Amino acid sequence: MKAAGGSRTAVLVCQGRAVADGRIAPGRFTDPVAVSLLRADERRTVEQVRAGTPPSGWLERVDYESVRACAEIVVPRTIAIDDAVRERTSPQVVLLGAGLDDRAWRMPELADRVVFEVDHPDSARDKRQRLAGLPAPTRPVRPGEPGERVRFVSVDLTRDRLEGALAAAGHRADTPTTWIWEGVVPYLTRPEAARTVAAVATLSAPGSRLIVNYQAPQAAIAIGQLIARSMDVLARRRGIWANEPWRSRWTASAMRDLLGRNGFTVRSDDDLLTIATRLTTPTPRRASLRSGRVAVADRPA
Ligand SMILES: C[S@@+](CC[C@H](N)C(=O)[O-])C[C@H]1O[C@@H](n2cnc3c(N)ncnc32)[C@H](O)[C@@H]1O
Repeated sequence: MKAAGGSRTAVLVCQGRAVADGRIAPGRFTDPVAVSLLRADERRTVEQVRAGTPPSGWLERVDYESVRACAEIVVPRTIAIDDAVRERTSPQVVLLGAGLDDRAWRMPELADRVVFEVDHPDSARDKRQRLAGLPAPTRPVRPGEPGERVRFVSVDLTRDRLEGALAAAGHRADTPTTWIWEGVVPYLTRPEAARTVAAVATLSAPGSRLIVNYQAPQAAIAIGQLIARSMDVLARRRGIWANEPWRSRWTASAMRDLLGRNGFTVRSDDDLLTIATRLTTPTPRRASLRSGRVAVADRPA
């Protein structure tokens, strides 16, 4: 990832959650915190989508549709991950590539847990700036304040060592951890993703759980991304994925092998279309939903 201002895909996902709050799967999904992490221009698109009033310019319309689509994809993904976290909430939780994830504040189950937010240094800086302006209780405990319940850990997963950075922040390898790795795997090459799983394995005491969201190969998605890139070229702008291109896709069996080699037993691995159908959330973007998967893997206690 090369993005001095922080991850734009993290903003898109946050916009999706803000759009979906109270609209999609009410009672199962809620994220009132997401909107407060967005800047005014990012919030405008959210308001347009929630109001169902598309902008007139074609470029703005592309952004509007991206946010709308993202809302439908992010809801089943979030619900599946939240459920897996609730089912096994370890004393410590690590978000790998945290972006603008607000679980540490949103989920009551995490209120008394230490949450490590690992992210690329640019994204981690961006998030701290966004959080700094928020009133309590959405503002985290800052380093030095009592508790330090939420700890920010800057790590570039393509080159830094996760083990040392997490240990320095107080993570304990002898205590079970719930790991959440959501929306990050595609931005890593296969060797980088494999190295990350190996690092996670060395830090995972028996009883730990790794929840990983990843993308399976889907021809329709590759074509869609090509069209989106062409539109950005036409508009002479840097698109959302210019700094964060997709670098790896995994079949379910390749992911199962990777996790298994590192001592994790896969308990479930569903595509988002299956999850959305179960939840009766919208499924118009079937190819995107079919490509996204959530695997839940445990290290035996
Ligand atoms: C689509 S966002 C997902 C954010 C968050 N997990 C969520 O679901 O809301 C992708 C995240 O991956 C992070 N990321 C991408 N490449 C990374 C790298 N090399 N090292 C660490 N984080 C990375 C970005 O900083 C960003 O926060």
